Amino acid sequence: MQKPQAQTVMTKSADLPVKIRIQNLSKVFETRRGQFVALDNVCIDIPDGCFYMIVGPSGCGKTTLLEIMGGLEMPSSGSVAIAQAFANDPDILLMDEPFSALDEQNKLLLQ
Ligand SMILES: Nc1ncnc2c1ncn2[C@@H]1O[C@H](COP(=O)(O)OP(=O)(O)O)[C@@H](O)[C@H]1O
Ligand SMILES: [Mg+2]
Repeated sequence: MQKPQAQTVMTKSADLPVKIRIQNLSKVFETRRGQFVALDNVCIDIPDGCFYMIVGPSGCGKTTLLEIMGGLEMPSSGSVAIAQAFANDPDILLMDEPFSALDEQNKLLLQ
């Protein structure tokens, strides 16, 4: 069965400086059934000052990617160049379905 793929949408901001660079990032989980490739050679440049969305079906690797970007999970190979400045007044926020626990009204308000 083909693995669902996350899709990235390029913006017209290619001339802006890159804030986050993801290079050849792969993540392989060791499972009881053998190795499972969750991320396969992902490359993304995210420009400064942009909202950037990664959209894809359940299981395509969105959370795994964010966990690696946030330092909660280690990549199997490849890298992510984010400045480690999350402690105070962060100018990058990684949000994984941040409003999923809210009721419909508040979710719409915050979105
Ligand atoms: N710790 C893990 N061990 C084995 N497989 C995992 C682990 N974490 C995630 N996966 C698998 O990796 C794939 C991507 O998961 P995930 O990043 O949570 O997807 P998404 O957030 O896009 O729904 C899924 O098939 C999931 O079952
Ligand atoms: Mg997820």
